[in-house]
Amino acid sequence: MTGRKKPEEFRSFRWFGVKDLRSFGHRSRLYQMGYDNAEIAGKPVIAIINTWSDINPCHAHLRTRAEEVKRGVWQAGGFPIELPAMSLAETYVKPTTMLYRNFLAMEVEELIRSHPVDGVVLLAGCDKTTPATIMGAIQVDLPTIFVPAGPMLRGNYRGQALGSGSDVWKYWAEKEAGRITEQEWNVMERGIARSFGTCMTMGTASTMTALADTLGLSLPGASAIPAADAGHSRMAALSGVRIVEMVFEDLKPSHILTAKAFENALTVHMAMAGSTNAMIHLIAMARRRGVDLTLEDFDRMSEKVPVLCNIRPTGEFLMEDFYYAGGLPALWKQLEPLLHLDERNVIGSIGEAIREAEVHLPDVIRPLDNPVAERGGTAILKGNLAPQGCVMKPAAADAHLLKHRGPALVFDDYDAMMKAVNDEDLDVTANTVLILRNAGPVGGPGMPEWGMLPIPKKLLKQGVRDMVRISDARMSGTSYGACILHVAPEAYVGGPLAAVRNGDIIALDVAERTLTLEINAEEIERRLSEWRPPERDYSRGFLKMHAENIQQAPEGCDFTFLQSPHKLPEPEIH
Ligand code: FES
Ligand code: MG
Repeated sequence: MTGRKKPEEFRSFRWFGVKDLRSFGHRSRLYQMGYDNAEIAGKPVIAIINTWSDINPCHAHLRTRAEEVKRGVWQAGGFPIELPAMSLAETYVKPTTMLYRNFLAMEVEELIRSHPVDGVVLLAGCDKTTPATIMGAIQVDLPTIFVPAGPMLRGNYRGQALGSGSDVWKYWAEKEAGRITEQEWNVMERGIARSFGTCMTMGTASTMTALADTLGLSLPGASAIPAADAGHSRMAALSGVRIVEMVFEDLKPSHILTAKAFENALTVHMAMAGSTNAMIHLIAMARRRGVDLTLEDFDRMSEKVPVLCNIRPTGEFLMEDFYYAGGLPALWKQLEPLLHLDERNVIGSIGEAIREAEVHLPDVIRPLDNPVAERGGTAILKGNLAPQGCVMKPAAADAHLLKHRGPALVFDDYDAMMKAVNDEDLDVTANTVLILRNAGPVGGPGMPEWGMLPIPKKLLKQGVRDMVRISDARMSGTSYGACILHVAPEAYVGGPLAAVRNGDIIALDVAERTLTLEINAEEIERRLSEWRPPERDYSRGFLKMHAENIQQAPEGCDFTFLQSPHKLPEPEIH
């Protein structure tokens, strides 16, 4: 960083400050919008990238939050402009928002680059929107603050807390087993999502916003503030105030997102037993900065860091409890010996952020000497079934399945699987290893969250609630069970998962980190040479671009042509 920036050095000065033919147009159009030149002259222009939409319940409040950010920007002497970006509502966008993560990243990058802006506030939070907006902003490298959407309130069912996703899966299994009625299920439907905000379990949204916060991109601790808490509005306004100063300081993502910052994020990810999706997103984000994060880094950290957050799906509580327990700074405090405390954030350092932090509810945020689990936030497995690796979350699986041998039952697509699991005559036992394939980055497309394969109805009735399940898909961060995900390379591109047949024996050994198809290499080769992927139509548009450029999960599922820290030149302004 150099000294304090002068207004003539602002990027926006090239649009508004100079005296030429084009700047006449830029200024006259400001007058057209009802502004006087004095309102913008010499001020940092702040882009507010807003992923609000009418169909994103997690971002329903971001329209108001954008106004609150603007309030802060005006107060601090900046000039805010709101730029809408695609919303990627996790619940509604099909086949999966993951198909469009890189699309949003490209949109954010180009929105920032092409407009007259000096600093950026990102409003996002619903799953993919966090990594996507950050990946875009990293690339232009203007001063940036991330304003997380914040978790929604706890769900409520007759006085009992309900968690997004996690409790849906749990009670669906109970309903299928005949233990709860249709009427009870309908009451839950009305009680599980009670306010705007993101899923309030430790799903992908809570994980990714906490990681963005730990990386240093938010006002420290912002990510745990419940969306409906008045503190969330204040945080938005303060972010607006702070970004203006950051422009003068020229404090950019490249100063904040160091290799050590990513180590801190890994540590927090393990301590939270965060979503398996974070492995894809964090790798993609790091590589945009030129930091070579790998799956092995996750595994190494998982051996070192115990699970401290007692939050569903791994634990008991919800994000609202986490906030009352002290929130993210309290968790950092517990992790103090394991974190790089000098790593800087948008306003100071992690070390400064924990000075006043305290844990108020010690069962929600546990100390290092009384963890929820000694380790096991994440395990990376390898073997002839997944030569490039696959992932699971041992802490969220039934312990007896962590070493397992059983016959495969293979599904080539989602519909066939759903039909089969409802068939009460299906040839399956609790010992069977369920497999879903052709659901990877290319084959899905976009790796839909189908990885928590449903337990067959027949077994649910027998009381079975967990089985070993393998796929090249992802699963929701709110899901749980002995689910092995992100198998790479995926079946659709000829990975060995394509070679498995019903009845083949599969061996899982989490302690040894292996996943083995007990068939010899020649036979696997022979079967793969006969393999033809199922028909997919990727002949045009974004789907074509996606299929031709998407990487496998261990590389972060970025587009090959995007995964580079290279920054493009500024646009010509003529
Ligand atoms: Fe938006 Fe879960 S659906 S965060
Ligand atoms: Mg999710």
